[in-house]
Amino acid sequence: MAAEPNASIPITRPHLPPLEQFSEVVADIFQSRMLSNFAKYTKRLEERAARILDHPQPYSVSSCDIGLALAWKALDCPPGEVIVPSFTFCSTVNALRWNGLTPVFADVDPETYCIDVDDARRLITPRTVGVAAVHVFGLPAPIAPLESLARDHGLKLVFDAAHGLGGRYRGSALGAFGDASVFSLSGTKLVTSGEGGLATFRDPAAAERFTFLRVYGFKGDYNCRYIGLNGKLSELNAALGWLSLDLLDEALARRQAQVERYRDALADCADATWQAVPADCVHGYKDLALQFRTAEKRAAVESALAARGVMTKRYFFPAHRMDAYAEFVRRRLPVTDQLHDRLLCIPLYHDLPDETLDSIAATIRQTLGRGRERHRAA
Ligand SMILES: Cc1ncc(COP(=O)(O)O)c(C=O)c1O
Repeated sequence: MAAEPNASIPITRPHLPPLEQFSEVVADIFQSRMLSNFAKYTKRLEERAARILDHPQPYSVSSCDIGLALAWKALDCPPGEVIVPSFTFCSTVNALRWNGLTPVFADVDPETYCIDVDDARRLITPRTVGVAAVHVFGLPAPIAPLESLARDHGLKLVFDAAHGLGGRYRGSALGAFGDASVFSLSGTKLVTSGEGGLATFRDPAAAERFTFLRVYGFKGDYNCRYIGLNGKLSELNAALGWLSLDLLDEALARRQAQVERYRDALADCADATWQAVPADCVHGYKDLALQFRTAEKRAAVESALAARGVMTKRYFFPAHRMDAYAEFVRRRLPVTDQLHDRLLCIPLYHDLPDETLDSIAATIRQTLGRGRERHRAA
C-alpha cells in the first residue's frame, strides 16, 4: 500500500507565488467587485497562456475535466468510436462518454507510456471518428505520427494535456497541436490556479463554439445555442493562475534538476527504469514514475518508502479496469497491465529539499540493491 496522504513527505506540493503578490491582486479584485465573467485577471491569464502555450488564443475553463468534455462537444464530432489509451486518468474517457462517444482502448508504448500509434492504427474501423491522446506525466505524446494518422483517416485529434504545461515537442509548446488540447491548472500541476484549465483549438469555429459552451451555452442574451455547462474560471483562480504561469520556467528547471539527481543516485539500480524521453521532446515532469522489473520489487520499494513516511502513488489506475468502462473492454492491453503492476510515482515538487530527495533515492537503492549494469531507459 502507498503511504497515507498525511505522510510526512507528500508526493507533490503546489509551487505558489509570494503571498504578498497574491494579496495585492485579491485586494484589486475585491475593489473591482468583479469575481467572474472573464474580467481583468481571466484576460491576463489567457494572454500570458498564449505566449506560454504557443497558441494565439487559449481559453480558460474551470478545470481540465470540464474543458475536455466541452472540447469534444465544440469539435462537433459525429457519433462513433474514439481510440483512447487506457493508461490515463478517468477524465480523458469521461469526456467521451459525456458526448455519447464510444471509447476503444489502445495500448501504450512500454518505454514512453504514451499511446502506441501502431496499436491505435490497427483499431481504426469505419466507425472511428477520433483519437484522444495523453501527454503522460508531462511527456509529449507522439504528436507527428498521431497528426498524420488523424489526417489520413479524417479523425478528430484531441490531446489531454492535463500534464502538458512545460512540455515541448519539436521546439513548440503543447498548445500548438491537434484539433484541441486541454491543460490542467489544478493544485498537483507544475503551476496552478487552485482549480482551472486552458483549452486551445485549431479551428476558429470550434473555438467560438467553446466560448459558448463554457458559459452554459449562451452569450449575454440568455438564448442557449448549445448544450453547455458552467465552465467559467473565477477571477480569484484566474489571478492565481496568471501569477503562477510566470513561475513555469523556474518550476520546470527545478524539476529537471531534481529528476537528474534521482537518476544519478539510482543509475546503477538494474531493477528500475525511467520513462524514456524521445530526442524531439521536452518532458514537463508533472509526475516522476519508476518502473520496476517485477511487481514484487515495486511492492518492496513502496513499503520501504511508506515506512519512512514517504508518499507514493500507483498511477495511473488503467481505464480498462475501471467499473464505469467495463462494457467497453474488448481485448487485453498487456503493456498497460504491466505498467499498472510495476510503476510507482515518487515525490517531485519544487521545494522538495535535496537531502530529502537523496534519502528517498537511498531507500529505493537499499531496497533494490545494486545491479551489475547501468539500466536506464533513456
Ligand atoms: C490525464 C489527466 N486528465 C485530466 C485530468 C483532470 O484535470 P482537472 O483536475 O484539472 O480537472 C487529470 C487530473 O490530474 C489528469 O491527470
